[in-house]
Amino acid sequence: MEKLNPISKKLYKIYYFLFKERFSKKIDFKFDNVFRWDLIEYLDNKYKFSNYLEVGCNDDELFSKIKIKNKIGIDPVIGGNMKITSDDFFVQNKKNYDCVFIDGLHIYDQVKRDIVNSSKCLSENGFILVHDCLPRSLSAQAVPRYRFNWNGDVWKAIVDLRRDPNLEIFTCLADEGIAVIQNKKNSNTLKIGKKISDLKFKDFYYNHEEYMRPISFSEFKEKY
Ligand SMILES: C[S@@+](CC[C@H](N)C(=O)[O-])C[C@H]1O[C@@H](n2cnc3c(N)ncnc32)[C@H](O)[C@@H]1O
Repeated sequence: MEKLNPISKKLYKIYYFLFKERFSKKIDFKFDNVFRWDLIEYLDNKYKFSNYLEVGCNDDELFSKIKIKNKIGIDPVIGGNMKITSDDFFVQNKKNYDCVFIDGLHIYDQVKRDIVNSSKCLSENGFILVHDCLPRSLSAQAVPRYRFNWNGDVWKAIVDLRRDPNLEIFTCLADEGIAVIQNKKNSNTLKIGKKISDLKFKDFYYNHEEYMRPISFSEFKEKY
């Protein structure tokens, strides 16, 4: 995890406050006491995965728990088993994956690219899971980052792709919000009257149910 310089943290906070957005309300998500490895284990037990890809591994907290036969973990800095950025990996990748877990650079356009690239190498009925989709506060999603516990603006990539008629997306209320994406007909295509670049945390605060389609872990188990 990158170290945050205290001076840049203060400057980024002031910059965000002055030029980006001021909004103090917080969302009290009712997260289940379920973690990313529990979701993956549940899906693996049910669908018997053979090939797993993790984008962004850090200290392998998740990657070390994965029991799927063929697992690839990519990270340009630390962890996994391939030292490479996701963009470079997808250019040279020729395999398909039953499950891709996206948890690399938590910035909208990179996350969107990671999801789109993953959808092109997903097995039939495979799953893309995206971590950190449900930030509780403005500061948790502010880019550039100015606090340690941070989700980034991953949520904007989900809102953007919720408009795609060929991606079915829900977000599980677990472990900072895990989006569950499949290459299937979208049963509720999102329509928004704003450009993604104009979206604010305030929009997320008031519309997160419609944007993200949050589901509890028990609803997740009924669906998948
Ligand atoms: C939040 S950590 C991953 C945590 C891990 N998935 C887990 O569940 O414990 C994010 C990681 O993404 C990596 N990362 C940053 N940019 C990346 C990129 N372009 N491609 C792949 N990984 C990247 C960072 O080096 C960092 O180790």
